[in-house]
Amino acid sequence: MGRLSVLTAAAVLVVTGLLGVPLAQATPSDGVLAARQTADKYCDSATGLCYLELSTRSTNPTYRVAIPGAASAPFDTLLQIVAPASLGWAGFAWGGGMTLNPLTVAWPDGKGGVTVSSRWATGRALPTVYSGATLKTLSATTNATHWAVEVLCAGCSRWGSGASLSSTGVHTFAWAMSKTPVPQPANPSSSFSIHNNVGMVSGDMADAQVAQSVFQAHAAGGR
Ligand code: HEM
Ligand SMILES: *[C@@H]1O[C@H](CO)[C@@H](O)[C@H](O)[C@H]1NC(C)=O
Repeated sequence: MGRLSVLTAAAVLVVTGLLGVPLAQATPSDGVLAARQTADKYCDSATGLCYLELSTRSTNPTYRVAIPGAASAPFDTLLQIVAPASLGWAGFAWGGGMTLNPLTVAWPDGKGGVTVSSRWATGRALPTVYSGATLKTLSATTNATHWAVEVLCAGCSRWGSGASLSSTGVHTFAWAMSKTPVPQPANPSSSFSIHNNVGMVSGDMADAQVAQSVFQAHAAGGR
């Protein structure tokens, strides 16, 4: 706990955030993406499982990643997204940018649950459905303040021609969120509108590592 691991570029972003640049004004062209990033180990008291937690400010989603320890890609990955109730969708980019990496996108399904969608973007336009990754929802909750989902992904740790998620060292992810509701909320193939906010977040993959047996038991125990 208490460890903040960032790449040099991300550290610059953190400093920029501390200088008080409002995140809402941040655009990628400003070079100011994820103001006030924290990357830390988070342990769920109910399940005992620990994750690398990536967060910025309370109006943005929080993302938590767990991977089977000591594995080399491809391995399954766990992702939790906790989003303010006001958000229409939240997305996570496993390779650290919008294009050419697996995107995991989630939104409220309109029936008290959460729809998850595997996507891929070749350009900066609506990402298409990506069959190279398979998502399994382990839990989904909504309440007055947040919607949250935990998803198991097969196919999010290796992509393209050899790019992959390392199980050690610092890895940079990216995220995006929109305030606009998704037009067909129950449909994983629905279109959706562009983000209101994006960022890049880096963390120490050691904080994401879970013992293989614990990972597998958790992955199998979903509903
Ligand atoms: C309708 C859907 C989407 C559209 C039209 C769109 C469009 C764009 C555009 C035009 C940019 C360039 C910078 C800007 O003008 O803001 C951008 C950047 C970005 N987008 Fe998207 N986007 C979409 C969905 C997504 C999703 C689902 C994710 C993540 C899961 C994502 C992640 C990012 C990130 C991280 C950046 C900044 C870094 C980069 O350019 O790679 N976008 N997007
Ligand atoms: C609402 O859900 C979020 C995300 O799961 C959780 O952190 C929060 O404690 C919940 N609030 C209440 C009042 O249960």
